[in-house]
Amino acid sequence: MTRHRVLITRRVPPSGLDLLQANDVDVDIFDQDNPPTRDELLARVPGVAGLITMLSERVDADLLDAAGKSLKIVANFAVGYDNIDLDACRARNIRATNTPGVLTDATADLAWALILSAARRVPEGDRLMRTGKWTGWTPMQLLGLQLRGATLGLFGAGRIGTAVGLRAVGFGMNVIYTNRSRSAALEEQAGARRVEFDELLAESDVLSLHVPLTPETRHRIGAAELVKMKPTVILINTARGPLVDEAALVDALRERRIAMAGFDVYEHEPRMTPGLADLDSVVLLPHLGSATVLTRLQMSTMVAENVLAVLRGDEPPNPIA
Ligand code: DGY
Repeated sequence: MTRHRVLITRRVPPSGLDLLQANDVDVDIFDQDNPPTRDELLARVPGVAGLITMLSERVDADLLDAAGKSLKIVANFAVGYDNIDLDACRARNIRATNTPGVLTDATADLAWALILSAARRVPEGDRLMRTGKWTGWTPMQLLGLQLRGATLGLFGAGRIGTAVGLRAVGFGMNVIYTNRSRSAALEEQAGARRVEFDELLAESDVLSLHVPLTPETRHRIGAAELVKMKPTVILINTARGPLVDEAALVDALRERRIAMAGFDVYEHEPRMTPGLADLDSVVLLPHLGSATVLTRLQMSTMVAENVLAVLRGDEPPNPIA
């Protein structure tokens, strides 16, 4: 029987590797936490049957052609797949899959970690303590946003946006959202109201982004949108960095045209837009949305199940192409 080689571009939890090996797959791994360079990747793909990629790998026609005719599946270790040229996959009869569902709660929780951190100015307080600059309790110190009664705006109401909105019930927030279709869950369980994009910008006290990155959503939040927001707004991004024009965001924050930002993803990841990290009014995390032990283990199993299904000639559980 032919043994298949499957290349994984990073160190991942062993659940998926064990599953592949138990099914007679030769697992070839870049056993490291940093992304391989493009050249390293191109040199290692020839002859693989499966490719397990991270969001930082560009999967385009050149990479698929370098892998050659043996390549049957690209399994992305992420729910987002803006890094993959799906048309190029389809044109070569290569299947592509992602990891939906298992990271919904982890990512929604992290969006809330950013909402709470920004609203209550947690990092600023932490810095005050660490630098020994705290001189004691005083009524006007680090005043933040009271969440009860404030409005949470969701741009996107898919799995993660909906999970973020449902968590707002516990904080007594009003929820509004913009989405192509109606979210019955948000409306029935969180009393949410679907609004036009401009109303979302104007009414949100906290605005959280939950749309995929596409040519239409790239820079959807730019200078023109930032001026339509409340000067007290907190902007949260746990989706994809390029949704926001970060140079415009830095200007708006510097000029206090908006109050705060809580970001887990960046326009030029992992590079930071100049000026962003110099601001006190931002909370910055290193793309940790799905980073819980359980979720990453489930993602690892899921990519392996997708690969194995395709190598067996079956329909993969999580197809995107
Ligand atoms: C995703 O899955 O798209 C996240 O950004 C990484 O887990």
